[in-house]
Amino acid sequence: RCTSNLKYSLCWKSSKTQKICWFCNNAKVAVLGASGGIGQPLSLLLKNSPLVGELSLFDIAHTPGVAADLSHIETRAHVTGYMGPDQLNAALKGCDVVVIPAGVPRKPGMTRDDLFNTNATIVATLADAVARNCPEAMICIIANPVNSTIPITSEVMKKYGVYNPNRVFGVTTLDIVRANAFVAELKGLDPARVNVPVIGGHAGKTIIPLISQATPKVEFPADQLSALTARIQDAGTEVVKAKAGAGSATLSMAYAGARFTFSVLDAMNGKEGVVECAYVRSEETECKYFSTPLLLGKHGIEKNLGLGKLSAFEENLVADAIGELKGSIKKGEDFVANMK
Ligand code: 2OP
Repeated sequence: RCTSNLKYSLCWKSSKTQKICWFCNNAKVAVLGASGGIGQPLSLLLKNSPLVGELSLFDIAHTPGVAADLSHIETRAHVTGYMGPDQLNAALKGCDVVVIPAGVPRKPGMTRDDLFNTNATIVATLADAVARNCPEAMICIIANPVNSTIPITSEVMKKYGVYNPNRVFGVTTLDIVRANAFVAELKGLDPARVNVPVIGGHAGKTIIPLISQATPKVEFPADQLSALTARIQDAGTEVVKAKAGAGSATLSMAYAGARFTFSVLDAMNGKEGVVECAYVRSEETECKYFSTPLLLGKHGIEKNLGLGKLSAFEENLVADAIGELKGSIKKGEDFVANMK
């Protein structure tokens, strides 16, 4: 156990010797939508982590049961459940990180944008509560359509004068996770060693895998590259179809949401060199929000690492995505501007 008062650097020294610093790894994390298909496995993964000191579970139903269930697990995170709008403020008090998987999932034939009418209101309501109760928290949004829910969250935070663009993230990690899995499968590699940056947004053609920047370096003939790119872009729909009306990706999304949350927590705890792609306020393209690899730090985004060098194929994908992304961003901003 790290007994140092130098919170950050020594903590990482001690974790290298497999000890857990209870002073440093003590974050309070809220999951909003904790009883849902993503929320439950996500909460389980967070409960399983030594980085989490307190796990605050909010939903409109079933949270007492989920919280009671998880609280019997012999890990240190203290679990509390909050149910219904009256308990939302209490769920958020003192939170360092807020993860939002709330909302409804797609059914076959729907795009993520078809969820806008339902999920925009849910995300705006939750963002409002975050702005009032824990304005400095890192906000990780999974709720779709991510291309619009990040602008919505940002505009709500602005209304309260508490917007910090370095702390609002659209979680696109599942696109990276899928790209890594598919590339590893095609090339017979260990997926744990593959890293494919995925930029743009989190819907259809706005999902832009940068296979040319994959590590280790991989090459595909043009037809295979197109097919692989299309599979990564449509992977969410592949799951929606396979679930045949029972929703969209929940388990892989929970994994991805947890991976992203752990990276944010690691960086907050002073770990250096933590890089994740996420959909954030950006100056890297003409879109106000865009996903690129980000260097994370104690205060959220430390540095936007940009798009890097793109192949001609990837440049075309970016050009093709811009129009749709701009539309989704405007739709989110207009929604908040017209809110009563
Ligand atoms: C997906 O990509 C649910 O948007 C999520 O599967």
